[in-house]
Amino acid sequence: MNFKEGLTFDDVLLVPKFSNIASRSQTNLQTKLSRNISLSIPLISANMDTVTESDMAVSMARNGGIGIIHRFLTIQEETNEVLKVKRSGSVMIETPYLVNQNKTIFDASNYMNEKRVSGLLVINDNSKMVGILTRRDVLFESSDKTRLVKDVMTKDIVTAKPGINLINAKEILRKYRIEKLPLVDENGSIAGLITSKDISNMENYPNSSKDKKGRPLVGAAIGVKGDFLERAESLINAEVDVLVVDIAHGHSANAIDAIKNIKKAFPNSELIAGNVATATGTEDLIKSGVDAVKVGVGSGSICITRIVTGSGVPQLTAVLDCATIGKKYDVPIISDGGTRNSADIIKALAAGSSTVMIGSMFAGTDESPGSFITKNSKKFKIYRGMASFYASLGRKSKETGTISIEDDLNDYVAEGVEAMVPYKGNVSDLLIQLTGGIRSGLSYCGARNILQMQQKSEFITMSKAGFQESQPHDVSLM
Ligand code: XMP
Repeated sequence: MNFKEGLTFDDVLLVPKFSNIASRSQTNLQTKLSRNISLSIPLISANMDTVTESDMAVSMARNGGIGIIHRFLTIQEETNEVLKVKRSGSVMIETPYLVNQNKTIFDASNYMNEKRVSGLLVINDNSKMVGILTRRDVLFESSDKTRLVKDVMTKDIVTAKPGINLINAKEILRKYRIEKLPLVDENGSIAGLITSKDISNMENYPNSSKDKKGRPLVGAAIGVKGDFLERAESLINAEVDVLVVDIAHGHSANAIDAIKNIKKAFPNSELIAGNVATATGTEDLIKSGVDAVKVGVGSGSICITRIVTGSGVPQLTAVLDCATIGKKYDVPIISDGGTRNSADIIKALAAGSSTVMIGSMFAGTDESPGSFITKNSKKFKIYRGMASFYASLGRKSKETGTISIEDDLNDYVAEGVEAMVPYKGNVSDLLIQLTGGIRSGLSYCGARNILQMQQKSEFITMSKAGFQESQPHDVSLM
């Protein structure tokens, strides 16, 4: 039997190359997520229930990456997360939230809370706009929640015609010192809403990942069994930009059948699938029609797949092997799992992946779902593998309402663990650090962009002593 050697990030370094790049700002991190989607930075937040829901996805897109909403939600819940991302940054909101003027302010406040918006457009029984209700309008009426919307709303409203350009809309918002500009057609019907918040978001995040309508890009995960086609349809109707077929062993008949069925039902959908760890796995997924392949078996920080099953490929070798096939077919490769810092990300990119999916590094940020826990006066957030016992417990109880650990889960074999990660502040600040490190990494390789680095880069393996030398050593850390 031939043994092949498998390497991962800590086994190698990138050999420094001549560089004429004077500053990190001369580097460009643009890359391909999939055949038809480009990103300004090569980072994706993982489809895990302790990493990506709408808050994370919005921040990832604003900063030029993308978030993939996890699938351990009902179809409607997952679809709603996609809709929230899309609404968060439209240049123009096509279907603003409305309230009838005869509703109580109690109902209107609840609706604002549910939709997480600061105002509603008010309509009469003929669906014509008659005012705007903002949180401020409601604030001072808190003692009498039975008052009607029409009695507290602002009636004197500045509006514009549909089709107004952004420069003119901005000028109207500035001139009248207002935050919301409803677009109303000649019949008095609402045709959209432009807000000052959305305009400033657009200006503050010039490199954000946007769809054709200027809204944030977002992806969403689906499985390969049960309701996956129905789920795909609902997400596509919500205008998700990319679907991710996500199963632990992606080089399987189940995954390939699912990919073919999705592509047959939704030929125009952009589809990522995984996870695989070999060249043949990559080729089989590409031949079944995917637009990008996700690579990584057992590399994730919370994974115990390799311990439980004995299967996996060290991540750097997996990416190198899969990227050879990706290049042959011109299909991007995503390195998923095992990255702990910007150096690991650069190594994954140099090995041929176009982007890197991240779980643990993002799980401790404000934008990940879940609350903080404090231990020994330090703040943490929960981070768990999607194949961990408790993630599975949560899933089953969601499906069935109630479960018995003895009856339903006594034969469940976990392939992930539950853990905690240190609190890290907001993900935008973390992304500044990570992308700064990636840019420096390009410059050490003498490359101005990721493609150039992939052509020029040269790995050198290192001994245990070389690895130790690469860490801070012979000093006491403060
Ligand atoms: P990092 O290292 O970024 O890895 O935390 C995130 C990736 O880990 C994978 N994942 C799992 N793998 N058992 C596994 O073997 C699990 O329970 C599990 N949960 C997540 C997944 O690919 C993710 O993106």
